[in-house]
Amino acid sequence: MPSPRTVGVIVGSLRKASYTRRLALALAAIAPPHLTLEIVEIGALPLYDQDADDQGAAPAAWTDFREAVRAKDAILFATPEYNRSVPGVLKNAIDVGSRPYGKSAWSGKPAGIVSVSPGAMGAFGANHHLRQSLVFLDMPVLQQPEAYVGHVASLLGDDGSIVSEDSRRFLAGFMARFAELIEAALRVPAD
Ligand code: FNR
Repeated sequence: MPSPRTVGVIVGSLRKASYTRRLALALAAIAPPHLTLEIVEIGALPLYDQDADDQGAAPAAWTDFREAVRAKDAILFATPEYNRSVPGVLKNAIDVGSRPYGKSAWSGKPAGIVSVSPGAMGAFGANHHLRQSLVFLDMPVLQQPEAYVGHVASLLGDDGSIVSEDSRRFLAGFMARFAELIEAALRVPAD
C-alpha cells in the first residue's frame, strides 16, 4: 500500500449545484484509498493584479491559497468549459498560484485533469487549454486516460454517486492511473 497522499482539487465552477463539483466529490469516493481529495476553494480569490505582488502587498486570500496548494502532494483539476476554454475563475486561480515569479506553488506537482459538460463534447476545449497552462507551470500531467466527461447530468444520481457503471469503472481507472503518476513523480528527487 503506497503512503497516504493528499490531492488538492481545484473546481472551476462556483455554481452551488455545479455538476463539476459533484463529479469531483464522486471521484473522491472512488479514488484509491491512500489518496485523500480535498477541495481547495478558489471563489474568494481577488482577481490577480501583479502590482500587489511587486509591492509585497499580496492579499491574504492569495497567500493562503498558495500555501494550501504547496501543502498538497498533487493537484486534480475538475473544470467545466466556458466558451471553449476554462472559466475565468479557474484561470485566475492558476495565475494567483503561479506568482510571485520564480515561486510558483504549482511547480512540479503531479496533476490530473477532468473536464465536465452537460453537452456531448466533454469540455474538450477547456481540457486542452488547461493542459497548455500546465505545461508552462512544469506540472507532470496524466496523459492517459484522458477524462472528457460529457452528458454529465445523466451520470450523477441524486445521492452524488456515478450511476453509469461504465463511467464509474472508467473514472476509477483514471484515478488509479493518476495515483501511479503521483508516486512516479514524487519518486524523482528534486534537483
Ligand atoms: C457555458 N457552457 C458551455 N458548455 C460547453 O460544453 N462548452 C462551452 O463552451 C460552454 N460555454 C459556456 C459559457 C458560459 C459563460 C456558461 C455560463 C456556460 C455550459 C456549461 O457547460 C454548463 O453551464 C455547466 O453546467 C457548467 O458547469 P457546472 O457549473 O455545472 O460545473
